[in-house]
Amino acid sequence: MTLAIIGGTGLTQIDDLEIIDRIKLQTPYGEPSADYLRAELNGTKLLFLARHGNPHRIPPHKINYRANIWGLKQLGADSIIGVAAVGGVSAAMTPGHIAIPDQIIDYSYGREHTFFDGEQDHVTHIDFSYPYTQSLRERLIAAAALAGVAITATGAYACTQGPRLETAAEIARLAKDGCDLVGMTGMPEAALAKELDMAYANISVVANWGAGLAAGEISMAEIEKNLETGMRKAISLLNAVVSAQA
Ligand code: HPA
Repeated sequence: MTLAIIGGTGLTQIDDLEIIDRIKLQTPYGEPSADYLRAELNGTKLLFLARHGNPHRIPPHKINYRANIWGLKQLGADSIIGVAAVGGVSAAMTPGHIAIPDQIIDYSYGREHTFFDGEQDHVTHIDFSYPYTQSLRERLIAAAALAGVAITATGAYACTQGPRLETAAEIARLAKDGCDLVGMTGMPEAALAKELDMAYANISVVANWGAGLAAGEISMAEIEKNLETGMRKAISLLNAVVSAQA
């Protein structure tokens, strides 16, 4: 298995990574967010990509998801763990908590969201009933137990367009729709990985309560503080995943 990690907000780099080389790729879809890192984590070789670029500069709706995923496939990755900062919608999703979602509702729009854009000689519809790869999810769940990181092992991830955060009414609607978490980058990333037949799972790190669920407005300072705690847990989890693999 060749694993790739896509790091989101709060995880532009992982200090524990031993970088072997940096690979600049051009793709038929344009430029990926950053150089790909070929690296070792805990003695295991993997690939790392900073989803928003390094430094963090590309907003969620401007990320070239197709280039990012295509490049990882080109470099030999067959499994991707996407790490993402999210807002908490359901009661268990408190700031600093980690969830491994099992479902997605996509509210994003206007993104280049498929490799099957009509240039092929047949129309392709991938099955997306279960958007995340169960075996990879199970590895993350087992790694969390190994690392002693408390997680929620299911959850529906709502992908909103951003870059603004939601209104309180939008969050109330997401809750009514059955969403547990809300982020801006989970789609089309998950679907593109599936189109290229790559395993894909997500670690959601809760940065804040969704709009209207806590008193007052959401501050960037609060998000950054919670992400620091949450990303530390996510890194323990990633370390445990690769240790279990070795
Ligand atoms: N909404 C959407 N995306 C997010 C949030 C949020 O509240 N927090 C971090 N990413």
